[in-house]
Amino acid sequence: MYSIQVVFLLLAVPFSAQGLNLTVNDLFTEELIQKAAASKHEDFGLNIYQLLSKYGYAVEDHQVTTEDGYILTLHRIPSARYQTAVADSNKPAVLLMHGLFCSSVDWVSAGPQDSLALNLADAGYDVWLGNNRGNTWSRKHVSMNPDTDKDFWDYSFDDCGNYDLPAKIDYILQTTGQQKVNYVGHSQGTTQFFAMAALRPEYNDKINLMTALAPVAHMQDMAQPLVRFLANYTSVLEVVFKTFKINEFLPHTELLPQVMQVMCNDDSPVQEMCAKVVFFLVGEDSPQLNRSFIPVMGSNTPAGISVKMMLHYMQEMKSGYFRRYDYGSVKNLLVYKRLSPPEYDTSSITAPVALYYGKNDLFADVSNVEQLANELPNVVKQNLMEYELFNHLDFIWAIDVKTMINDDVVALFNTYNSKL
Ligand SMILES: *[C@@H]1O[C@H](CO)[C@@H](O)[C@H](O)[C@H]1NC(C)=O
Ligand SMILES: *[C@@H]1O[C@H](CO)[C@@H](O)[C@H](O)[C@H]1NC(C)=O
Repeated sequence: MYSIQVVFLLLAVPFSAQGLNLTVNDLFTEELIQKAAASKHEDFGLNIYQLLSKYGYAVEDHQVTTEDGYILTLHRIPSARYQTAVADSNKPAVLLMHGLFCSSVDWVSAGPQDSLALNLADAGYDVWLGNNRGNTWSRKHVSMNPDTDKDFWDYSFDDCGNYDLPAKIDYILQTTGQQKVNYVGHSQGTTQFFAMAALRPEYNDKINLMTALAPVAHMQDMAQPLVRFLANYTSVLEVVFKTFKINEFLPHTELLPQVMQVMCNDDSPVQEMCAKVVFFLVGEDSPQLNRSFIPVMGSNTPAGISVKMMLHYMQEMKSGYFRRYDYGSVKNLLVYKRLSPPEYDTSSITAPVALYYGKNDLFADVSNVEQLANELPNVVKQNLMEYELFNHLDFIWAIDVKTMINDDVVALFNTYNSKL
């Protein structure tokens, strides 16, 4: 059970680093750091701009301001590999939304062959990568300062669905002059989509096809043991976070990637323990995890979420409802005019939805995905991965992600975008 200790060590690093100004030199010997540097993965430590430039893709930066003042960054990949960016309004636009703790980079970090975003760019799509409010690239607001205003962090996936996604979709439609946008969500990127489509049903008509990888809505059977354990103490956690004035959870830090690089590189004697930590967190799929890639995963991820986002997910797990944030009955009366939070009306999610889910996914349990599938009025594809070990991260980082997921998703989009 070393893995539990390593999990806590890795989780503790960002917090202690902020308070104590720790550096990698305080944790490891000079010799160990140098040895690790010698066997560094060539993509380790690169951000999205550096990775895309290395792979030969153009990237554009777009800033979108939401109704409630958050300034979000969209990364746009307008053309295929080695082509100069030319805005082409005939290309179908596709918006990809990352999972919890992730950011736009996680759609491209698997490299030019294996990243869904880059496969889509090569197939002729105008690719837009979103970033949630509060993550590395969207830590901005017209009036609030994320470092000093606790209200900046007063959001969950409910707000990402209610404000962020509509702003992004409208911006993309306006910029490209198109009527509809294609959508891919991974995990949390699916939750906020379902929240949007239920809260603002008029947006269903702006979606050509939504592809959900590891869909998360109902969560009562979610199997991840650490989160299941912590969810019993949601109200205690809430008090602890309040007391210590922690509003932001696992932001990007310089230290965590360095620690992962020293511990998880190819010559590290504890690399296999790093793999065990990954398995503990997301489900064990040894054949599909490239050990060399673990430090690259940690280069940009975690990218920060609000504590409220995490608490909202824990509420979903405990209650079994897919519903809005629970403030407790007194405040619920004020906010919702009722004692319990309203459920998201899944029957009004009329956009066409394709569902891809795995049997070994600790976060999107098969029974919960199928419960959602039964509620959604317009499921156009329901794909339970045949491969038994398919886990939560395999949807973006499995060794064979291209043949297992990406090729199928690109083909599906092609049938829905017949101009291609
Ligand atoms: C926490 O809740 C789960 C069910 O959600 C239960 O199985 C477990 O025994 C509870 N207690 C602890 C301490 O984990
Ligand atoms: C694992 O990643 C390394 C470094 O990117 C690469 O050289 C190797 O081919 C990968 N292994 C597999 C099985 O894909």
